[in-house]
Amino acid sequence: MNARNVVLVDGIRTAFGRAGEKGFFWYTRADDMVVKVIRELLRRNPQVTPQMVEENIWGATTQEKDQGLTLGRTSAILAGLSEKCAGASVDRMCAGGMTAVTTAASEIALGACDIAIAGGVEHMGHHPMAATADPNPRFLVDRLVSEDALVMGKTAENLHDLYPDITKELADEYAMISQLKTAKAHQEGKIGKMITPMTVYTREGWVVADRDQQPRPDTTMEGLNELRTPFRPLGKVTAGNSSGLNDGACGVLVMAEDTAKALGIRPKMRLVAYTYAGVRPEVMGLGPIPATHKVLKIAGLTMKDIGLIELNEAFAVQCIAFMKEFKLKCPDDPRLNPWGGAIAFGHPLASSGPRLMIHLMHEFAEQPEVTYGLTTMCVGLGQGGAVVWENLQGNGSKP
Ligand SMILES: CC(C)(COP(=O)(O)OP(=O)(O)OC[C@H]1O[C@@H](n2cnc3c(N)ncnc32)[C@H](O)[C@@H]1OP(=O)(O)O)[C@@H](O)C(=O)NCCC(=O)NCCS
Repeated sequence: MNARNVVLVDGIRTAFGRAGEKGFFWYTRADDMVVKVIRELLRRNPQVTPQMVEENIWGATTQEKDQGLTLGRTSAILAGLSEKCAGASVDRMCAGGMTAVTTAASEIALGACDIAIAGGVEHMGHHPMAATADPNPRFLVDRLVSEDALVMGKTAENLHDLYPDITKELADEYAMISQLKTAKAHQEGKIGKMITPMTVYTREGWVVADRDQQPRPDTTMEGLNELRTPFRPLGKVTAGNSSGLNDGACGVLVMAEDTAKALGIRPKMRLVAYTYAGVRPEVMGLGPIPATHKVLKIAGLTMKDIGLIELNEAFAVQCIAFMKEFKLKCPDDPRLNPWGGAIAFGHPLASSGPRLMIHLMHEFAEQPEVTYGLTTMCVGLGQGGAVVWENLQGNGSKP
């Protein structure tokens, strides 16, 4: 069986809210956020009728209550997709949405379907991280992992131990730059076009959620220096150099390249290769390093060929470790997260993988000279995911 080319046609997300009662999605269901994204993808792409979508795959870390009951199927029904559309839910924690996209792409590549919607959602207000998890006691009793492995902030402190040259000051500087890049991108109108506004009921009444709640454009080194270190006394990881706790959904429309051509659609990027790799759970933030080495090998490329990198910023320290490994300019490389990252936008776990993809999609349009881009992220309990994309909006690409 020959694999078919798979292309990403479009992507959109909700605004990312702050998790908890003060967040604008507190009274909004996670599955309704998914429905909003699906409906918007269809509205933006009228060549694709709801009857044409054959598969709907969604990632969520906690698969219960408003994120349960096979979200891919429930959201297909709620969004008015055809009853013939199949639906599935996947979980790879933070890379749940990335896995939804690569799973849909694999189905398309092997001819199981032609057109799919895939994405990720996490309502961390309704589903605090690991709140209802029941880890096997053998993890700790048999010392399969240390207790740190179950608390992501502690894994970030462990990374600081592993890389003593990544100081708290350097992590804070990285975080501040991320916030400033995001603020600039907002001002230049680059972020708003990736967000579908959603009217939601809040404690203040009805509001339109059309702007992320997490970014702090007024971040300074002095302000960051004053923050406490919740994961270790006198530690280095703070609320300022970590991603936050957020609610959000993000999805993409993917299809066979031939199908796009037949429909007269000009796709934005072509999937070149993807992979996932494991690392020690106690230092889960290293995950993007082996995943990126592996995906570059599969793609037959080197880091020199990659013009844009969207790296999920779970923690600043983990991004700096990645930059060191691949000899990027630290703490700011023009190729990496040009519009900032999860430290500013927030990180509603499973939705972040597709968010990286839609950033890359828009960045490709602005940088037609770039041929290849990478989306990569770390995953709790020690994994990394990486996807290489080819720019179809580039100078060299054929319509
Ligand atoms: C780090 C963490 C525990 C902080 O949670 P929190 O205390 O609810 O965070 P807050 O947003 O309330 O910020 C805490 C304080 O820092 C301040 N702060 C946060 N970012 C700041 C910034 N950039 N500049 C200045 N102050 C900042 C806040 O104003 C707040 O101050 P206050 O207590 O005086 O109100 C939480 O965000 C976290 O767990 N992050 C990691 C998430 C994660 O593990 N994801 C999975 C990755 S694999």
